[in-house]
Amino acid sequence: METMIDIIDVSKSYGKGLPAVNHANLHVDKGEFVFVVGSSGSGKTTLIKLLMKELDSTSGQMIVSGERLEKMKHRRVAKYRRKLGVVFQDFRLLKDRNVYENVAFAQRVIGRPTRVIRRRVPEVLQEVGLAEKYKSFPDELSGGEQQRVALARALVNRPDILLADEPTGNLDPKTSEEIMKLLEQINERGTTVLVVTHNKEIVNAMKKRVVTMHDGVIVSDEKEGEYHEA
Ligand SMILES: Nc1ncnc2c1ncn2[C@@H]1O[C@H](COP(=O)(O)OP(=O)(O)O)[C@@H](O)[C@H]1O
Ligand SMILES: [Mg+2]
Repeated sequence: METMIDIIDVSKSYGKGLPAVNHANLHVDKGEFVFVVGSSGSGKTTLIKLLMKELDSTSGQMIVSGERLEKMKHRRVAKYRRKLGVVFQDFRLLKDRNVYENVAFAQRVIGRPTRVIRRRVPEVLQEVGLAEKYKSFPDELSGGEQQRVALARALVNRPDILLADEPTGNLDPKTSEEIMKLLEQINERGTTVLVVTHNKEIVNAMKKRVVTMHDGVIVSDEKEGEYHEA
């Protein structure tokens, strides 16, 4: 198996007190689907930010898609982040641009030629089930549709890893289930997926690997796991 994420004895402290991430070890192979669960304040978002290199660890090693994060030079970070697609609870779309432009923007910033963008954006909108809404603006879409746009934007540059921090936190149960099924399909097409969630019902129904955090510590890591209240 090819390694996609290797987190080795990683800690992150913001200041005094308990570290937000405390001697974490996590190994994820290419093509895996992983849920990260745990109560509020357990360190899940900090873990995502470490993976994004939005934060630097206090100690330990992280190797993500073949890159050593703690040694990475500042000028390499933007290029590293192209290997990641990231979605959040609050979608973070550009409100003054339509669906097509929100997705195309992610290609424009890395200099993709227009002819590539014109082919790729409809393709990725099709993958998230939103092909016909390309002209809509974010405030004309439901929450679930907005998250599909955010997913299309995250995927348009074909990242190695999709990171999702509570992607269904603002969605009703039925829409949440649809988005999680979509994440599963994205994973089945080959992208490694790591999803932080509080959605106990869905985690228990999907029978995926479940990593549980509590007070910064990874307290369990189970194949076909369940949501534990740690
Ligand atoms: N920017 C920050 N400055 C100081 N403490 C922080 C900061 N961000 C998070 N924390 C603390 O780190 C711990 C983990 O937070 P977080 O990673 O956001 O947890 P989760 O996403 O699981 O709710 C919490 O105790 C939180 O208060
Ligand atoms: Mg969080």
